[in-house]
Amino acid sequence: MRIIETVVAMRSERASLTSPVALVPTLGGLHAGHEALLGAARERAGTVIASLFLNPTQFGENEDLDHYPADRERDLAVMRNAGVDVVFAPSVGEMYPPGDAFTVDPGPIGEILEGAHRHGHLRGVATIVAKLFIATRPDLAYFGEKDAQQLEIVRRMSRNLLFEIEIVPVPTVRDGRGLAMSSRHAYLSEEERSAAEVVYRSLRCAREAWNGGTHGSSALEGVMRTVIEAEPLATLDYAAVVEAATFEPIPEPDSGASVVSRTAALALVAVRIGNTRLIDNVRLD
Ligand code: PAJ
Repeated sequence: MRIIETVVAMRSERASLTSPVALVPTLGGLHAGHEALLGAARERAGTVIASLFLNPTQFGENEDLDHYPADRERDLAVMRNAGVDVVFAPSVGEMYPPGDAFTVDPGPIGEILEGAHRHGHLRGVATIVAKLFIATRPDLAYFGEKDAQQLEIVRRMSRNLLFEIEIVPVPTVRDGRGLAMSSRHAYLSEEERSAAEVVYRSLRCAREAWNGGTHGSSALEGVMRTVIEAEPLATLDYAAVVEAATFEPIPEPDSGASVVSRTAALALVAVRIGNTRLIDNVRLD
């Protein structure tokens, strides 16, 4: 496994890599979710590049950039075990040289949900993913469904900015209690970890309601809100149901819109447990 720290070295390495080349971007703090992405990439790609870059531009001022639970040696060991060929681990100065001010703006989808609650976050994500794409020029890039809005933005970016990189989605990896794996679990006390189970429980309740015939977004959002508000340690940031393909609100059942337009929806929640913010989503089909 080669570890590369500059864009110039990455470019020259790229010339000799076996196709297809897959990129798996990460912030570090690797867990079973990241391992699923690396495993899926390893199965299909001639070369697996994993990036390890704690991107400052996607963190807000009062967020957890300074104590993000990443351990470089441990993360490199996980990557080595997963069969990664090349680790791209640039410094902040390498990705954002002095005077760098250009950004990639996702447009309206970057302003809703995560974008509304974490101002500038999705612009920071789009900007760094674009730079990683340009530095590594992959044929395929792997992203988790756990970050559904990020995944949709990366898909649109690849299409709209003509990267023509195939974006491969990987299903959310959960622990035995249903909690979607997250680097931020490292912040949770045992009591908070139990409380965090409310996140997936609220989504399961939304899915049950959907399967029982409740297809209005406000009714489904109400179901999720009720479940989350019953957990004293949890504070809801948002509970939303959107069309999976567009991220637009789904039509209310009495609006006269066709049932077909309501067949693939996404239920999404963001919850704070103490100082830890967790997001999750499920598809409603
Ligand atoms: P990070 O949070 O490190 O996640 C890296 C990738 O792992 C993302 O595609 C994310 O969706 C995926 N992932 C995280 N938890 C997962 C889980 N439980 N199951 C499946 N996949 C999971 O997301 C980022 O980093 C950054 O925004 C990044 C894309 C690297 C840009 O900086």
